[in-house]
Amino acid sequence: MTGSDTAGAQGAARIIDGKAFAEGLRARISAHVARMAEQGVTPGLAVVLVGEDPASQVYVASKAKQTVACGMKSFEHRLSADTSEADLLALIERLNADPEVHGILVQLPLPGHLNSDLVINSIDPAKDVDGFHISNVGLLATGQDALVSCTPLGCLLMLREELGNLSGLNAVVVGRSNIVGKPMAQLLLRESCTVTIAHSRTKDLGAVCRGADILVAAVGRPQMIPGDWVKPGATVIDVGINRIDAPEKGEGKTRLVGDVDFDSAVKVAGAITPVPGGVGPMTIACLLANTVTAASRIHGLPKPEDLSI
Ligand code: GUN
Repeated sequence: MTGSDTAGAQGAARIIDGKAFAEGLRARISAHVARMAEQGVTPGLAVVLVGEDPASQVYVASKAKQTVACGMKSFEHRLSADTSEADLLALIERLNADPEVHGILVQLPLPGHLNSDLVINSIDPAKDVDGFHISNVGLLATGQDALVSCTPLGCLLMLREELGNLSGLNAVVVGRSNIVGKPMAQLLLRESCTVTIAHSRTKDLGAVCRGADILVAAVGRPQMIPGDWVKPGATVIDVGINRIDAPEKGEGKTRLVGDVDFDSAVKVAGAITPVPGGVGPMTIACLLANTVTAASRIHGLPKPEDLSI
């Protein structure tokens, strides 16, 4: 666990340091990769980027850098924005068959002419390190061993570290996306939490949030959850990464904020993730962890217990 010593003290939530947590996870990943190398296996991650979206380019470069830093192989495929669905599916078929590739990630969002569901479901589920394939979604929903979506996986690892046993706690997930909200709810249910999924149509969202021992915000709306929606002592996980104007920093300047109003929530919560430096760094670390898990399974090696759930 990381953070200040003032845990739970009134007016001073513990700050959950996702950056430090991700560094620890990457160190464990590197150690696993070194042990696998002794058995002749080097995990490989292929990342496919279609188009030139600047934010996606930054993410993809960061993924490749961290993959190599952990001793794994990185394969980057950058395709033009007008790539046909047939060409993209043909590439995925080649990656599915490539023995050096254990993980395949197709960066989303895809350009509008491509059917994301079709593309994601063409990935071999054993290599689906994003956990987006319908098979992995179904395995998670039925409590079976699955590759799990990276952001919710990172949130769960931090919650376990922070709280230990989550059984019986009231968890509220605000947001119902396939990438975060729904898999997060499934994971919390698996931990025996009482789970509520709230969203933009939820009646009296504030009252629902105030019942949460664990509050996960994943709506993509800057600072929409104020401190008076947070139950005193609750653990708050803020998945949002929103860029807003910051005139106080100078003309034209911006800054990143979460979906939670940090300044008011930090006075009420027991522990809270900051933005940036909370959930964000955990997502890529979990992608690398999933790649090690996938490579272990494909080669019949033991499950890396300290990297998976
Ligand atoms: N775009 C934004 N986040 C993600 C992610 O976790 N996986 C993929 N494939 N694309 C994304």
